[in-house]
Amino acid sequence: MCGIVGYVGKEPALPRLISGLKKLEYRGYDSAGLAVFDDKELCVIKQAGSVNGLETTTQKLCRPNITAGIAHTRWATHGEPNETNAHPHRGCGNGQACKIQIALVHNGTLDNFETLKSLVLKRGHVLRSETDTELLVHLIAEVYKDDPVLALRTALQQVQGTFGLAVLMAGFSDRIFFARNGAPLALGLSLKGNFIASDPLAFRFYTDRMVNLEDGNLGWISGSDYQVVNMNADKVENEVETIPWSLETAEKGEHDHFMSKEIKEQPQVLTQALRGRLLDDGTVKLGGLDSHQELLRMMQNHVFVGAGTSLNAGMISKIFFQELAELSADWESASELANQKRPIFPVQTAFWAISQSGETKDLLDALKTLKQQDLPCFGIVNKVGSEIARLTGKGVYIHAGMEIAVASTKAFTNQLVTLFLIAMYLRQIRGLPKINWHDRLLADLRKLPLLVTEVLNRENEIIDAAKRYAGYPNFLYLGRGVNYPVALEGALKLKEIAYVNAIGYSAGEMKHGPIALIDGGFPTLVIAPKQDDYYSQITTNIQQIRSRRGRIIAVATDGDDEIKNCVDDVIWIPQIDYYLTPILAVVPLQLFAYHIARLRGLNPDKPRNLAKSVTVK
Ligand code: AGP
Repeated sequence: MCGIVGYVGKEPALPRLISGLKKLEYRGYDSAGLAVFDDKELCVIKQAGSVNGLETTTQKLCRPNITAGIAHTRWATHGEPNETNAHPHRGCGNGQACKIQIALVHNGTLDNFETLKSLVLKRGHVLRSETDTELLVHLIAEVYKDDPVLALRTALQQVQGTFGLAVLMAGFSDRIFFARNGAPLALGLSLKGNFIASDPLAFRFYTDRMVNLEDGNLGWISGSDYQVVNMNADKVENEVETIPWSLETAEKGEHDHFMSKEIKEQPQVLTQALRGRLLDDGTVKLGGLDSHQELLRMMQNHVFVGAGTSLNAGMISKIFFQELAELSADWESASELANQKRPIFPVQTAFWAISQSGETKDLLDALKTLKQQDLPCFGIVNKVGSEIARLTGKGVYIHAGMEIAVASTKAFTNQLVTLFLIAMYLRQIRGLPKINWHDRLLADLRKLPLLVTEVLNRENEIIDAAKRYAGYPNFLYLGRGVNYPVALEGALKLKEIAYVNAIGYSAGEMKHGPIALIDGGFPTLVIAPKQDDYYSQITTNIQQIRSRRGRIIAVATDGDDEIKNCVDDVIWIPQIDYYLTPILAVVPLQLFAYHIARLRGLNPDKPRNLAKSVTVK
C-alpha cells in the first residue's frame, strides 16, 4: 500500500515525480505529497486527495527546473487521510532534538510505534502528525552527525516493522537516501538521472534498467551514481536487471477503466497460462515444479493459503486437489494462519501460497510462520520476483500480466486454471490412472479462452441485468461445490467496488439462517450451471427463495429452460465440465459488479478505503 517515487538527475524532477505517482496511485490514493530541493532549500508540498490535485498545486508553487525530489501517494494506516498526515514528513526543526532537516516518505508500518513515540517525546521532539512515519524522521535526525547513511543505519536499528524509505537531507541536494525492510523498493538507472520507487512501473517510461533492493539494504542515489550497503555497512552489489515488460501493459488503452480492460483480457491471459503447460498428448508440464517432483510425491496433504480473491481461488482448488488428484486438501485464511499460536498440520503437508501481488503482508506473515517450522511452501503468484515468489522460492507463476484495478479479476481466473493444472500434474506424477473423462475434460480446458470470449460477448445482457438491479441495497449470492467460492467471489466484487451489501453463502447453508433475509427487496444471485453435480439441490434452493417472494438471478447453462421458468433473470454461460464452471461463471459476476458500480456513479478502479496491495496487518 502507498507508492514512493524519487528522482535525481539532469532533467526536471516534477514531471517525473507526478507521472510516477499517477502510475502508483492504484496502491493508495487518499492523499499525496512531494519534497524537492528548490535552490538547495528543502520544500514540502502535500495535501489530501488525488495526485491530480497535487499536480495543480506544485505547478503553482514550484519552479519548473527542480532536479531532485521524492513523492508519495498514501493509504492511511496511522491517522486520518489529511494534509498533516500526508507524506513527506519533516522533523521538529528546533535545532536540538533534530540535528538536520529531513523530508521522508515511507511505505510500511512500525510495530513498536507506541514505544518509539514515547521515546521521541521524552527526548524533546515535537510531533506534528498522528503517523508512525514521522517518528522515523525524528529518530534519524536525532542521531545524525555527518554521515546520512550511518544515521539511517543507527536509527533504523531501533525500529521494528516494515519500511521502504526515500529521504532528502538538507545539505545533500544531489542525493536521495533510501532503506528497505519488508516493503519493496527498486532503483531505476538512466543516463539522465536515477530513480527510486516502490514499483518500477513508476519509472518504466524513462528507463528499463533497474536494481531490485533486498531487505536490509540502504544507501543513496545521485544523478550519475548509486551505492547500496547492508546494515553492517558492507557494500552490496545487486544485479542490474532489464525490466521485461513495456509500459503499454500498464495503460488503459481504449477502455474506460483498468477493471474493464482486465476482465476483457481473460481469454488472452488464460491462453498464456496454458501455453507450454498443457501438451498436445494431454500431459501437463510445469517447469516450476519439475525439480520438486520427489518432494511433491511424498505430500499427501495440501493447504491453500491466501487472502480475499486469492483465498477464494484456494477454496476452489481444495476441490480440484481432492476430487481430481485424490489428495487430502484444505485452505486457511492467511491472516488467521499468521496469528495462530501453534498451527499443527499432518506430516507431509505442502502449502500453496496464492497471491496476485506477491506482497500481501498477511500471507507473508503466514509463510514466515510455516517456514519457521520448515514446512514446504510453493508460490502461486502473478508478480514475477515479488516477495512471496522469492520467499517460497518454488512454485508456478500464473502469467496474468499486470493487474492494476483494485478488484482482482484476471488474476483469479488464471489462479484457477493454474491450480487446476497443478491438480492434474500431481495426479500424473503420482502415477494414478487417468480420470475417466480425461480427454473430454482437457478438451474443455483447451476451449476455455474461446468460451470466456463468448461470455464477454454477452456483456450487453449483463448491462441490462445490472440496470434492473442497481438500485437494490442487498444481495445474497449462492453456489454449491466448486461454485460456492464463486458466490463468495461475486459477492466480494460487488461489495468492494459498488459498496453494495452482498453476502456469499453456500446454497445448502441458506436454510440455516440467511433465508430469513429474503423478501421482495432482497435479490439472490444463484450460480446454477446445469452440469453442476449439485444442480437438483440448487433448483430446490431456488424454489425455497421463490416461495418467499425473493427475486432471483441465475447464472445458468445455455439452453436450460427448466431454470429459465423459475427465476426472474438469467445470465447465460456456455456448457463446460463441472470443474471448469467457476472460470466461466465468475466472468459475468465481475461484469455485473463493474456495471453496477458504474451505474451508481462510482469509479470501479479506485474503491474507497481500499488499495491494490495490502501490505499492512
Ligand atoms: C480482490 O478483489 C481484492 N482487492 C483483495 O481481496 C485481494 O484479492 C487480496 O488483498 C489478496 O491480494 P493478493 O492476491 O495480491 O495477495
